[in-house]
Amino acid sequence: MIVDLDDRKELGRTGERIAAIGIGTWGIRDKESARKALRRAIELGLNQIDTAEMYSTEGLVGEVVREFGRDEVFVTTKLLPKHFKSEDSVIKAARESLRRLGLDKADLILIHWPNEGVSIKEQIRYLERVAEVGICRHIGVSNFDVRELEEAISSTRRFEIVVNQVKYSPIDRRVEKDLLPFCIEHGITIQAYTPLEGGNVTKSKILRDLAVKYGKTPVQIALNYLISHERVTAIPKTERVERVEEFRGALGWRLEVEDLLAIH
Ligand SMILES: NC(=O)c1ccc[n+]([C@@H]2O[C@H](COP(=O)([O-])OP(=O)(O)OC[C@H]3O[C@@H](n4cnc5c(N)ncnc54)[C@H](OP(=O)(O)O)[C@@H]3O)[C@@H](O)[C@H]2O)c1
Repeated sequence: MIVDLDDRKELGRTGERIAAIGIGTWGIRDKESARKALRRAIELGLNQIDTAEMYSTEGLVGEVVREFGRDEVFVTTKLLPKHFKSEDSVIKAARESLRRLGLDKADLILIHWPNEGVSIKEQIRYLERVAEVGICRHIGVSNFDVRELEEAISSTRRFEIVVNQVKYSPIDRRVEKDLLPFCIEHGITIQAYTPLEGGNVTKSKILRDLAVKYGKTPVQIALNYLISHERVTAIPKTERVERVEEFRGALGWRLEVEDLLAIH
C-alpha cells in the first residue's frame, strides 16, 4: 500500500493543492456555533468548505469566507440534479448559489448526484457552461459510480472533472474496490463524505484500539486512515470548535502501514 503523506492534496490534475481535511455543512443546527467552528477551521488550515444548494448553508459559508478573504478558503457547492434539464436552468441555479454565497466565483461546483433522466454527456456539457461563464473555477461530480464517471470524463471539452464526492469512511470502504483505484488512475480527487459515519466511528473497536495505541481519538484515527490514501480528502461535519481542533489533530502524522491494513 502506498501511504500518502501529504496534508494538502492535488485537486484533479490542476497542480492546485487543497486541504486534506475540510469541513462539511449539512445539518447545521446552531448557526452561531457553526460560524465559530468554520472560522476556527480556516484558522487551522482546514480551509476547504463543502456546502450545497440543498443544505441552506451557502449564505453562512459565504459570510465566513468573506471575513477571511476569498483566497483563504476553497469553496465547493453542489447543484440539485433537477436543474440539469437545460443549459439555462443549470446556469440560473448556479447563479443563485453564487448569489447566496455572496462571492464572485465558487472554486468548485458539483452535480449533487446524477440526473437519471438526462444523459451524463448533456449534464457535463451544462456544467461546463457554468465554468465557461465564470461562475466557478472547476467542475466535478458527486455520487458517480465508475461507469458514470467514465462517461463524465469522456464528455468534457474544456474543463476536467477534478472531484468525485462520495461516501467513504473506515467503516464503509466500498469505494476502495473500484472507484478509488479508478480515481487514482485518472487523477480525480475524492472528497470523502460522512467520513465519521455521523459520529459512529467512535464506537468502532479497531478505531478505539488504535486510538489508545497512538494517543489519538477514534475520530482522528478515522480521518488519518482516509487521507492516508492517495487522492483522498475528507469533509467531516461539525459545528463545534473543539471538534474542529480534534480534526486538526488528524494531520501531520500517519498510521503505520500494518495499522492501516488492520482497518481493512
Ligand atoms: N455529496 C453528498 O451526497 C453528501 C452526502 C452527505 C454528506 N455530504 C457532505 O459531507 C459532510 C460530512 O458528512 P455527514 O455530515 O453526513 O457526516 P459525518 O461528518 O460523518 O458526521 C457528522 C456528525 O458527526 C458528529 N461529530 C463530528 N465530530 C464528532 C466527534 N469528534 N465525535 C462525535 N461526533 C462527532 C457531528 O455532530 P456535531 O456537529 O455536533 O459535532 C455530526 O452530527 C456533510 O456535512 C456534507 O457537507 C455530502
